[in-house]
Amino acid sequence: MSAEAPRSPAGSDPVLFDRLIAMASGAWVTQMIHVAAELGLADQLAGGEREVNDLAAACGAEADGLFRLLRGLASLGIFQESSPRHFALTPLAELLRSDHPQSLRQFARMLGDEHYLSWNDLLHSVRTGEGAFHHRYGESVFAWYQKNPRRAEIFDGAMGDFSRLQIEAVLAAYDFSGIDHLVDVGGGRGLLLQRVLTQHGHLRGTLFDQPQVVAPVVVPAALEGRMQVHGGDFFREVPAGADAYLLKHIIHDWNDGACLTILGHIRSAMAPGGRVLLVEQVIPEGNDPFPGKLLDLNMLVMTEGGRERTPAEYASLLGRAGLELQRIVPTPAPVSVVEAVAAG
Ligand SMILES: C[S@@+](CC[C@H](N)C(=O)[O-])C[C@H]1O[C@@H](n2cnc3c(N)ncnc32)[C@H](O)[C@@H]1O
Repeated sequence: MSAEAPRSPAGSDPVLFDRLIAMASGAWVTQMIHVAAELGLADQLAGGEREVNDLAAACGAEADGLFRLLRGLASLGIFQESSPRHFALTPLAELLRSDHPQSLRQFARMLGDEHYLSWNDLLHSVRTGEGAFHHRYGESVFAWYQKNPRRAEIFDGAMGDFSRLQIEAVLAAYDFSGIDHLVDVGGGRGLLLQRVLTQHGHLRGTLFDQPQVVAPVVVPAALEGRMQVHGGDFFREVPAGADAYLLKHIIHDWNDGACLTILGHIRSAMAPGGRVLLVEQVIPEGNDPFPGKLLDLNMLVMTEGGRERTPAEYASLLGRAGLELQRIVPTPAPVSVVEAVAAG
């Protein structure tokens, strides 16, 4: 047998074969990164390399299992075995540190738990169109988070992790100068609003989200008098009278009927001449890779009818809410700003 003999069955391309194996076993990688994040391994290594027994004792793990986890992760470039049985951070592992400015630790913690278990039922969602989370847990994800504050805390942190670069991209691409009062609808802990207000000294802003989400939010001293926090339910009402309503990753959580309720409340509440700004991963035509095409499946799994939408789907949805799509402003990140005004 020659040294070049393919490792895959006759006639198939070994590169494609290995590629599909790596993709099909992607769930292993999700769990490996999740466990590293849960154990706080990157934080433990922040001061430099450590021997695996010492690390295992520090993070409550069994030394051989931890060694095998780190060896596997190091094979993917996450951590490295710097000397025998000693591990250190790599640039990818740095992103799992809690104190990194682009930390993805909470995001990795979120993906490996209720999201992961729900994705196990993707087949159910594809067969029936029903959200797998609801199928497994018997209620919507936001109702479940209300009863599971420890997981909700991780979800809120994960939203922050996921958002940080997107926020900078929105600030770079969208001109907020013509706005006086901005409401961030479903704004979570207020990261985006705080950045917009910090960047644009003329603006006033209201953070609006569920009461238990905004309860811990403290307005920074520098924004006092310009930033308000309002707890409520966007299926009942939104704060009235603002000239811009920003919804980042809100519309993608809901089916068209629910979106029309939220957008209808905004349409009634907004000041004359006001605008609606949806920050979403707008799905392009064609087969090219685009992160929103996978995020869309996460919406299929985790929500009841949420989805990423195409430009035509946004135009139609907004039109049915009495709004008119003005333009879609791309940003350096995969999110765009979908801008709409009241229909004439
Ligand atoms: C996917 S997260 C997006 C958070 C934030 N805009 C971001 O992009 O990071 C959805 C947000 O909608 C909020 N939310 C869900 N149901 C709500 C309701 N009925 N009223 C107000 N906010 C709600 C959640 O608490 C959560 O903060």
